[in-house]
Amino acid sequence: MAFQLPKLPYDMTALAPTISKETLEFHYGKHHKTYIDNMNKLLEDSPLKGSSLEEIVRKSSGGMFNNAAQAWNHTFYWFNFSPEGGAPSAALDNALKSAFGSREKFFEQFVAQGLANFGSGWTWLVKDSGGKLSIVNTSNAETPITKGLIPLLVADVWEHAYYIDYRNVRKGHLEALAKILNWKFASERFDSNDVFDCTKVMKA
Ligand code: FE2
Repeated sequence: MAFQLPKLPYDMTALAPTISKETLEFHYGKHHKTYIDNMNKLLEDSPLKGSSLEEIVRKSSGGMFNNAAQAWNHTFYWFNFSPEGGAPSAALDNALKSAFGSREKFFEQFVAQGLANFGSGWTWLVKDSGGKLSIVNTSNAETPITKGLIPLLVADVWEHAYYIDYRNVRKGHLEALAKILNWKFASERFDSNDVFDCTKVMKA
């Protein structure tokens, strides 16, 4: 069974005005779908056919890696938003305080790292195997799941993520994400010792 574009956990208009319906139509409906379609085509003649998306990302290189990792990163990205926003669990809030000083200071650093991420890529809040939080930047399709890290939150800093709504102003887009970060999702990721199961929502 091929991988499918995951069903969004909210309506196409639900993240507006932070992320507009038009951006979702392009970013989710075209960019993300194309990565999945390209990966499915490459898998037809690959020994990785039948593997989970997480295994494909960890075991592939070249075009297969680029499309599979972008398929994974974007699925995670959609689940890391919620129109309700919400608040972190007490455990995650404490971990944010010890790593960054406060949740607000974490977010300032997250925005600063997103701005400093040169070119196309992703800015992540991750947990290492010792439970310590940090912010990491990856370029292009690179993803922390190949480095034994557990992603909690992410911002896509490819221009396609913000150009329709914010033109060239990446900072405005990143700052607005504070309103829609899904802290319940991040708290569940913090409690888990495994990465988010994108395969499950893409083979539903
Ligand atoms: Fe993207």
